[in-house]
Amino acid sequence: MTGPKILLSDEEMPTQWYNIAADLPSPLPPPLNPLTAEPVSPDDLLPIFPLNLIEQEVSAERWIDIPEPVLEKLLIWRPTPLYRAFRLEKFLDTPAHIYVKYEGASPAGSHKPNTAVAQAYYNKISGIARLTTETGAGQWGSALAFACNQFGLECKVYMVRVSFNQKPYRKMMMETWGASCVASPSPDTSAGRGFLEQDPEHAGSLGIAISEAVEDAVTTEGTKYSLGSVLNHVLLHQTIVGLEAQRQMQKAGEYPDVVIGCVGGGSNFAGISFPFIRDKIHGKELRILAVEPASCPTMTKGPYVYDFGDTACTTPLLPMYSLGHGFMPAPIHAGGLRYHGVAPLVSRVLWDGLIEAKAFNQLDTFKAGITFARTEGFIPAPETNHAIACAIEEANKAREEGKQRVILVNFSGHGLVDLASYDAYLSGKLVEASLADDEVLRLVSDLKRVPA
Ligand SMILES: Cc1ncc(COP(=O)(O)O)c(C=O)c1O
Repeated sequence: MTGPKILLSDEEMPTQWYNIAADLPSPLPPPLNPLTAEPVSPDDLLPIFPLNLIEQEVSAERWIDIPEPVLEKLLIWRPTPLYRAFRLEKFLDTPAHIYVKYEGASPAGSHKPNTAVAQAYYNKISGIARLTTETGAGQWGSALAFACNQFGLECKVYMVRVSFNQKPYRKMMMETWGASCVASPSPDTSAGRGFLEQDPEHAGSLGIAISEAVEDAVTTEGTKYSLGSVLNHVLLHQTIVGLEAQRQMQKAGEYPDVVIGCVGGGSNFAGISFPFIRDKIHGKELRILAVEPASCPTMTKGPYVYDFGDTACTTPLLPMYSLGHGFMPAPIHAGGLRYHGVAPLVSRVLWDGLIEAKAFNQLDTFKAGITFARTEGFIPAPETNHAIACAIEEANKAREEGKQRVILVNFSGHGLVDLASYDAYLSGKLVEASLADDEVLRLVSDLKRVPA
């Protein structure tokens, strides 16, 4: 008897990452220094990142070897399974074949450790003793806490206050792995103190937490900053997801017509999609869908601009779709999707027309998550529910159009530490949030467009 799992052996795990910068139809615009409007040089990044990661950030090499010590850590949970969602297909009565790449298998429960172990390793071999970071839902913070523990580094996590209060178990996970975790805005940095003076109960945002973590890194000896999404090297480390999925789809004897991932900063989406975008650039026909919350519609309503990656304007200006660094997303439960911008590489493939963007309402995403849990069993993270909602929509469309369609969706993480959000949904307490077009226009009015 065979089950719905399509597995790879340890020997079949990819040993290189794929760098999409080598294949882009138009070059990626560089980040700019906000004071001079000149491209940022690798030296400008040295106060916050080690040189080996900066080299990856600007690399044009198509394939980059994964170092042995990183492979060894990845093998703790990788290769991750690919599931054929037979029971969901049956429930939806769809001719579509739905494949689910299960990134919930890692110790922290999401795709985030794929880059956390790589970043911890590169910092360790550069002589760094301590890393700081921000976290939204807590998935990234717990991933970095796990990775720092594996490589013997200290770790301090600034967690967006609204999620810190909604998800106390994530903090406990971080502390279990030896990290420290504070609610952001915090009294520990001058950026945090500034926001707390405005409002002592400030809900926080990823942008503010980034400002705090960067400030801590540049003002503390032996410390660097680590980012869980957005930057090129982070997206690079996630491509192992799509590279594995390609091998697994080949084993299944199918090729996807549609590839789907949810987007916060863009890393799990990049992970599943970039190897397939490479195929698309080389002539394959497929649709690639990036899914975001309707309350934080960066790609579907924001313009392609130069904007700061954080709220306190301490980062370089990144070329990205953005709602403006001053945007405070509604406190939805998909905390990892509450980010005003989206990765420059994901922005570029959207600009180049290689992917499509879609937005879903919070309530619709939870309805999809419940459907998935009651058919396939796995309970998705609230972020993942966005991708699941889109996959269900595509499968329903396939039924209406009478088309046999192959759908590949990235299951970015499980929701076992997010059950309070399911409780809120099931008890009718979850509310909808949206963003009006004229508010978007106000937020982005000062930002400079990326030239065509
Ligand atoms: C489970 C899960 N999915 C998706 C995301 C969104 O991040 P990214 O767009 O970088 O994948 C997060 C972020 O915390 C997450 O925890």
